[in-house]
Amino acid sequence: MAIKLRKLSYGLGAEICDIDVAAPMSESAFGEVHRAFLDHGILLFRNQDITREQHLEFSRRFGELDRHDAFPSDRHPTIPELMLVTNEPQPDGTPSVSRYTGRRWHTDMSHTLEPSLGSLLRCWTIPGVGGDTMFANMSLAYDALSPGMQKLTAHLHGVHFSGGRKLDSTSADQAHAEEQMKISPPVAHPVVRVHPETGRKAIYLGEKVKRFDGMTENESKPLIEYLNRHATKPEFVYRHQWRENDIVLWDNRCTMHMALADFDQTQRRHMERTTVVGTPSGYVAAIA
Ligand code: OGA
Ligand code: MN
Repeated sequence: MAIKLRKLSYGLGAEICDIDVAAPMSESAFGEVHRAFLDHGILLFRNQDITREQHLEFSRRFGELDRHDAFPSDRHPTIPELMLVTNEPQPDGTPSVSRYTGRRWHTDMSHTLEPSLGSLLRCWTIPGVGGDTMFANMSLAYDALSPGMQKLTAHLHGVHFSGGRKLDSTSADQAHAEEQMKISPPVAHPVVRVHPETGRKAIYLGEKVKRFDGMTENESKPLIEYLNRHATKPEFVYRHQWRENDIVLWDNRCTMHMALADFDQTQRRHMERTTVVGTPSGYVAAIA
């Protein structure tokens, strides 16, 4: 099969047109999809009216699936390989713990020692308007840095923290954030990571990073903020407007993403994510 691609933006992303991800896919056809994944950083599959089992099955072609032990509260009640990103209240009527998931620039599982290779987010329900997600190409952003800045960042490690769900947080949210910190203490990763499959360098930061290892927050903040701002310039970004039954796959090793709050919060937004396990990276950071 020769897949039909449509680029989504200048910076990154491609839609794979006319594909049914639940249909049998030969190794060579999957090879083309995989190549497109490496080339474009994110892939969009529209109109995928598939079951949860089919979502898992397609995701497994990219690698082993995370069982989300680092996020037990956000798992689907019976399918640990599915993580919920939803504002549907819990069965007891309390607010969903995942209603603010991803509201900062980040890459998935970067606060762990096995940060994710990629994630496949399936849209079940979206608000009438908005609820978009933005994605940034961190390889392009790295390439655009001056040689001096590339040299300066070459040996830095960023310390990634979990949690941080503030906004209108309830005491249950705070307890949840504290529990998260216990489950996964801060982890340091290189600020410049080499993509294991393409060999390309990418900035690996985001707003979960509070400081560089061996430096204070005050010392680190200006450069972290500069690099995050640089990496999320419009020319490196794609903004996705969801439709029901979209699946978006992103490469967590060379892109970042952020869920926007650009919608009426009384309307339902329900997404489900599989997370493909990546290669080990980083180390548990010493307390500053
Ligand atoms: C995620 C995430 C963004 C969104 O699922 O990892 O950050 O827009 N979601 O729901
Ligand atoms: Mn995410």
